[in-house]
Amino acid sequence: FMKRRKKWSHYPPGPVSLPFIGTMLYVDFCNPHLSFNQLQKKFGNIFSLQNCWTNVVVLNGYKTVKEALVHRSEDFADRPYVPIYEHVGYGNKSEGIVIARYGHVWKELRKFTLSTLRNFGMGKKSLEDRVTEEAGFLCSAVSSEKGCPFDLRFLVNNAVCNVICTTIYGERFDYGDDTFKKLLHLFENSLNEEAGFLPQLLNVVPILLRIPGVPQKVFQGQKAFMDFIDVLINKHMETWNPAYIRDFSDAFLKEMEKGKTAEESGFNYNNLRLVTADLFAAGSETTSTTLRWAVLYMLLHPEIQSKVQAEIDKVIGRERPPTMKDQVSMPYTSAVIHEVQRYGDVVPIGLPHMTYRDTELQGFFIPKGTTIIINLSSVLKDETVWEKPNEFYPEHFLDANGQFVKPEAFLPFSAGRRACLGEQLAKLELFIFFTTLLQKFTFVLPEDQPRPWENGHFALTSSPHPYLVQAVPR
Ligand code: HEM
Repeated sequence: FMKRRKKWSHYPPGPVSLPFIGTMLYVDFCNPHLSFNQLQKKFGNIFSLQNCWTNVVVLNGYKTVKEALVHRSEDFADRPYVPIYEHVGYGNKSEGIVIARYGHVWKELRKFTLSTLRNFGMGKKSLEDRVTEEAGFLCSAVSSEKGCPFDLRFLVNNAVCNVICTTIYGERFDYGDDTFKKLLHLFENSLNEEAGFLPQLLNVVPILLRIPGVPQKVFQGQKAFMDFIDVLINKHMETWNPAYIRDFSDAFLKEMEKGKTAEESGFNYNNLRLVTADLFAAGSETTSTTLRWAVLYMLLHPEIQSKVQAEIDKVIGRERPPTMKDQVSMPYTSAVIHEVQRYGDVVPIGLPHMTYRDTELQGFFIPKGTTIIINLSSVLKDETVWEKPNEFYPEHFLDANGQFVKPEAFLPFSAGRRACLGEQLAKLELFIFFTTLLQKFTFVLPEDQPRPWENGHFALTSSPHPYLVQAVPR
């Protein structure tokens, strides 16, 4: 007992906790990363909070985050239980990947998903072919705006969601397709429901979710989205032939056929729908938001846009579609894309982790079961690492000879065991979509439009406020 008490005396410092609500008043849940930056100044890189009864420790700055996620990777690899997802089917035996507890089932599902995405030569086309094809459809849709002002958001969302659809269901949808429009609409509603104070409160006081009608009312969008995923999977199952694997769903169904061992590794129907939802949730909004930041920065920095276009013209020309092989010969474009990810800071506070065992970090004791927030924003804008942390400055990724370099603190995909599973796919999409768009168009701010805001709107991801753009054909 005395030993444990001594350890607790090294628990990270933090603001004074009030009865019942803990320290929740210190955090602006609409902009948590900004609150964390303030608290970091007062309490240092490792500080503690209390969400009602839940102990939370926030990690800030490159050095601290690296030490936790890379050097003590397993200690920080768990995820906290998220009661608000229970009503859509997340539970003991089925947790998908993103919010799954650290353990055998998560490992198996992650390994399977990674290798299935990697071997996506399984159909006739590679994943790169599919993204290139989608970039063509995106450009045609942008062309049909005929140089008039429009909001790029819908088209970019369509393109990025189609990449997930083609991965999971083996086919893309036309942008005007009613099923596709419904899918995107339901998905957007479900994402909006997760932001703000209320979901936080329901997570820390889950008894409130037992009040009849509360989950149905607060999360009706999520339920509708999951119901729709069921419809798509069931339709897919009708045409399933184990001899011919068309896509991710087919590969998962085949795994389910393998019997008890597969079942124990999590390959059941409920996990198929949850992993599918995970890939949508984790893989579409993040990528499409990054692309929207990319175009916004091109509007604000036309001279940078011109330099990217000059490099595209030199290496690829105006006709041939860009390929990933071009990337090595395009240091400036690569630097711009990386700077978009750094400065855009799309997932500012990552996803919550939880300590898997009692651990120690820079002399602080952090007990097993503590919720850990990784303030990725504080890494991507760490003043001790980046020359101009609060400016859009592609030179962060270029050496004195103009060659591409990647500083270690570039962690938009986080690091360690729970690092983003879709990093390779995301990089593929960002490079192919961005270069194809700039190869075909110059993006300009419409004359009557105000200068777009550089600060983001936070709802799990940090996205640009709506803006209009004109795409002038090149
Ligand atoms: C997790 C960022 C695209 C699938 C994450 C995490 C971040 C992140 C910060 C949390 C890591 C952690 O907990 O420490 C991004 C960004 C993207 C992107 C910035 C695009 C620019 C994608 C794509 C996919 C994907 C395209 C899939 C197709 C996942 C999954 C996880 C994850 C499944 C959970 C991993 C786990 O818990 O084991 N991502 N992501 N992401 N991401 Fe991404």
